[in-house]
Amino acid sequence: MTAPVFSASAQRDWETLLTWRRDVRHFLTQPLPEGLLETLLHATCLAPSVGLSEPWRFVRVNTPERRAAIRQNFIRCNSHDLEGRSGEEAHRYATLKLSGLDEAPHHIAVFCDTAPLQGRGLGRATMPETTTWSAVMAIHTFWLTATAHGVGVGWVSILNPAEATTTLSINPNWQFLAYLCVGYAREPASTPELERRGWERRNAARRRWIDR
Ligand SMILES: Cc1cc2nc3c(=O)[nH]c(=O)nc-3n(C[C@H](O)[C@H](O)[C@H](O)COP(=O)(O)O)c2cc1C
Repeated sequence: MTAPVFSASAQRDWETLLTWRRDVRHFLTQPLPEGLLETLLHATCLAPSVGLSEPWRFVRVNTPERRAAIRQNFIRCNSHDLEGRSGEEAHRYATLKLSGLDEAPHHIAVFCDTAPLQGRGLGRATMPETTTWSAVMAIHTFWLTATAHGVGVGWVSILNPAEATTTLSINPNWQFLAYLCVGYAREPASTPELERRGWERRNAARRRWIDR
């Protein structure tokens, strides 16, 4: 088998994809076409994982009751974060939209099985966290693949993880990693929303190597 060679144009397309991958908080309510979530999950499972353990567990959250409980969880945690801030920063925080939970047509919770039998422990002895990192890489793969299909993803972490795990009736030994809002973005953008709203900006120093 010969490995593919990626053309200069494919490399440019890849950079364009990275540039336009956004954390989306404003969604159209229109659901994705039948089968697209399966396509995204299949591509996601091409992600690397320690010992080939594939520790990610993608959960579709379908019932209105569970979605409502997650929304309440978010509202409580977000209010708590706001209360911990004061002055101008609190004012600015209050104006940010930090989830698309109300409109996104698809809700996906991502967990990590931190003690998977698959992979037989290979590579985890010195750094057990590699299991979690593997699942996070799968989330990023999902995010990029969704972008390639014109689909927006918003990562919601302002949640109480134990409560989310109970709400979704998930094995308490699985680690809650992310709650993803998925659907078509209202307004695609090539810069982060937090930058557009003046909360934070990309730092040029991060684009420089640290040499030793
Ligand atoms: C681990 C993680 C957790 C995040 N949690 C939230 C969140 O709870 N709410 C939110 O609005 N954005 C969340 N984000 C999105 C970031 O704010 C976003 O990635 C960052 O501002 C850069 O914007 P971009 O993803 O559009 O490039 C999260 C991103 C990551 C990687």
